[in-house]
Amino acid sequence: MQENIHEKIEELRSQFQQSINGALDLEALEKLRIKFLGKKGEVTALMRTVGRLPAEERPLFGKLLNEFKNAAEEMLESRKKQLKEKDASLRWEKERLDMTLPGKPFQLGRKHPLTLISEEIEEIFSCMGFQIVEGPEVELDYYNFEALNMPKEHPARDMQDSFYINSEVLLRTHTSPMQIRAMEAMAPRLPVRIICPGKVFRRDDDMTHSPMFHQVEGLVVDKGITMADLKGILLLFTREMFGEGRELRFRPSFFPFTEPSAEVDISCIICGGSGCRTCGGTGWLEILGSGMVHPRVLEVSGYNPEEVTGFAFGMGIERIAMLKYGIEDIRLFYQNDLRMLQQY
Ligand code: PHE
Repeated sequence: MQENIHEKIEELRSQFQQSINGALDLEALEKLRIKFLGKKGEVTALMRTVGRLPAEERPLFGKLLNEFKNAAEEMLESRKKQLKEKDASLRWEKERLDMTLPGKPFQLGRKHPLTLISEEIEEIFSCMGFQIVEGPEVELDYYNFEALNMPKEHPARDMQDSFYINSEVLLRTHTSPMQIRAMEAMAPRLPVRIICPGKVFRRDDDMTHSPMFHQVEGLVVDKGITMADLKGILLLFTREMFGEGRELRFRPSFFPFTEPSAEVDISCIICGGSGCRTCGGTGWLEILGSGMVHPRVLEVSGYNPEEVTGFAFGMGIERIAMLKYGIEDIRLFYQNDLRMLQQY
């Protein structure tokens, strides 16, 4: 009978050994534990058979079975540790970054031609001591028209078909309201010397007009400012922007907020003045409106027109960009076609 006991335990041991080597994850290991050591497991089943053994063999059998049980528990524990370590390293493998994989290509952005021109204009005027200011695109009727010497029903309001939001509020039709805002903020200090770039809005839409476009306003107020200062500043600007040798021409014009007013042309940058398609054969290109700040405009903004004078000008940024880059359709600026934008 003794042989038999040893055999039985040996068989159990080798069965267990095989199973534990085959347990490849924690779940399988737990199943194995239940199968051998659980309440209804193999060890318990063998314990039950102890009663069938002769009395003198029982203690040995119990002892061997206990030894097996302890050994099995130890083996399960160490296998468990092993599997946990393997698990962690597997996870590490899975999450590891492969630095040798090729990256996803991405397109580099670049500045819009209008941004480039704005920055160039700002740079030129900054160097001449102008301060750069910005103001609201949604503007009060007061700043856009009224304070600029265009009371309600003034016919000049029709020159700029406006987008009204309500009877007092509109999208600014030009950057000139910033003349008033800048002077209000500065008065009575001198000098006022600002440029204001920004978006403006008019009910217009064709090859050379867009319902939204950009202007730069310029304003200088000080004691003894004359039209010669205006001309000098604009000539300097023109030659910085379009090159040495450019000429300027002032033509009498009308704006309610400047007196006298002048439209300013530059000698054609394509033909140099001999006449071509771009300048319509005249040799000149119109680039901006300007004039001496109207006394009433100075007055409503907090300056005494008996003591100070000023000049102002406003130019279209698209117009400058179209001339400088030879672009014929203004709408190209807003279609965001990369083939067009990448050229600048
Ligand atoms: N605001 C005018 C326009 O949009 C231009 C201008 C500005 C004229 C300043 C004179 C002085 O047409």
